[in-house]
Amino acid sequence: MAISESTREQLEQLVARYPQPRSALMPMLHLMQSLEDEVTADGIAVCAEFAGVSAAEATSVASFYTMYKRKPVGKHHIGVCINTMCGLLGGDAVYDAVSERLGVGHNEATADGEFFLERIECQAACTHAPVMTVDWEFMDDVTPTSAVDVVDRLARGEQVESTRGPVIRDFQATEHTLAFPEDGLAAEGTPVDDKMLAGLRIAKERGMAAPASGQEG
Ligand code: FES
Repeated sequence: MAISESTREQLEQLVARYPQPRSALMPMLHLMQSLEDEVTADGIAVCAEFAGVSAAEATSVASFYTMYKRKPVGKHHIGVCINTMCGLLGGDAVYDAVSERLGVGHNEATADGEFFLERIECQAACTHAPVMTVDWEFMDDVTPTSAVDVVDRLARGEQVESTRGPVIRDFQATEHTLAFPEDGLAAEGTPVDDKMLAGLRIAKERGMAAPASGQEG
């Protein structure tokens, strides 16, 4: 696979970050995904070459982690969490509503290439369940109506913000940030709010503390 000079330079930058080139494999796969909309066999081969591992080893990483997609995602990735907390609070209904709106099911893209829908596992965002992600930005406390509204606004080309602040860009832009988080956007928005800290506040009020390491009970 022929790669551009810019891609080569970016791959070399990623490799230079670590004592061992193979440590750069995961950000390199995100970089390829930011360029190709998916992780192709050719992209994996390029990453393997720069990481100094076999194509089989690189493929085992790309096929293990679900954030690496083996078919084109399109413009926006929509994830709806259906794990326990989100499911109990309406995640399945949110998924069904978005699926009906888009006319696609799990791991499927719309024919126009605008949206890709995925049932996702717990995003460690249960405080704001049920959650939906758009290009991995959080939409907290969604309902079937608010989730479909987000999709409608994106489809109309309107600016949409995550409930935590950042403006939704697109899947490829997010993937580039995952490869190069130092672009200044990774900490955008409000990652922690009062609701997330409620448990800590109550524990402090009640004088509760975690047992020291190695202690039972
Ligand atoms: S169960 Fe959905 S974020 Fe945890």
